[in-house]
Amino acid sequence: MLLKDKVAIITGGAGINGLGFATARQMAAQGARVAILDLERADPAGAAARLGEGHLGLVADVTDKASCEAAAAAVLKAFGRIDALVNNAGITQPVKTLEISGADYDRILDVSLRGTLYMSQAALPAMRAQGSGAIVCISSVSAQRGGGIFGGPHYSAAKAGVLGLARAMAREFGTEGIRINCVTPGLIETDITQGKLTPERKLEISQTIPLARLGRADDVAGACVFLASDLAAYCTGVTLDVNGGMLIH
Ligand SMILES: NC(=O)c1ccc[n+]([C@@H]2O[C@H](COP(=O)([O-])OP(=O)(O)OC[C@H]3O[C@@H](n4cnc5c(N)ncnc54)[C@H](O)[C@@H]3O)[C@@H](O)[C@H]2O)c1
Repeated sequence: MLLKDKVAIITGGAGINGLGFATARQMAAQGARVAILDLERADPAGAAARLGEGHLGLVADVTDKASCEAAAAAVLKAFGRIDALVNNAGITQPVKTLEISGADYDRILDVSLRGTLYMSQAALPAMRAQGSGAIVCISSVSAQRGGGIFGGPHYSAAKAGVLGLARAMAREFGTEGIRINCVTPGLIETDITQGKLTPERKLEISQTIPLARLGRADDVAGACVFLASDLAAYCTGVTLDVNGGMLIH
């Protein structure tokens, strides 16, 4: 098992059809004790219970520093260490540049970018004390190609910010045995995309993707497991594309 006896935190992991929950499920299957963090309305405790015994679900808002610190403390109290953190929480909004209000900008950047910073800040002291740890940040193909299919420019900016933040943290914490990497998913079928694409539009998009299909949550989860595991022991500052070839660069 790739994550035997490791403790993993996944933010925004309670949506049963989401990338976070698929990652939680695969990490648990690889032997990790998993803490799912999410907003109260998403029922993180219920999601953790679906993983079986010995996992934890915590209400945490990644835009709130105190909430992130309280969640990290609760994980340490329950499991005694933090080996992996997946910064997965994110929201999107399909608007154009001239329609983005200040409030929209704050909302979208706060969850993906501020949330990645705050949750990393909450987990890093424990990783530093252990002398080991792996952080995986979920960015997006939207950051690389200037827009995906759904996200507005502020979403692209937030996800591009995540790439910069993760790379800078990778440089800062490498000597302490802490690896920090990004995953850039392409178009993955989850609740974010649910109901927004007609079967015709899906087919049309699939025809532009070398692997000829939209992504599945488990496609992204596998990349997160790899980056969190010792198989990726010499990878830091990496951006791992999981996009079916939608963007090859
Ligand atoms: N689905 C895609 O095609 C796709 C592509 C590229 C990147 N992504 C990114 O992958 C991540 C997961 O997306 P998904 O498609 O699984 O969507 P999702 O909506 O299923 O998951 C997002 C989760 O984040 C949680 N969340 C929102 N605000 C939060 C906050 N303030 N604090 C804690 N949790 C919060 C939500 O409750 C939800 O469970 C996101 O960062 C998204 O931007 C998705």
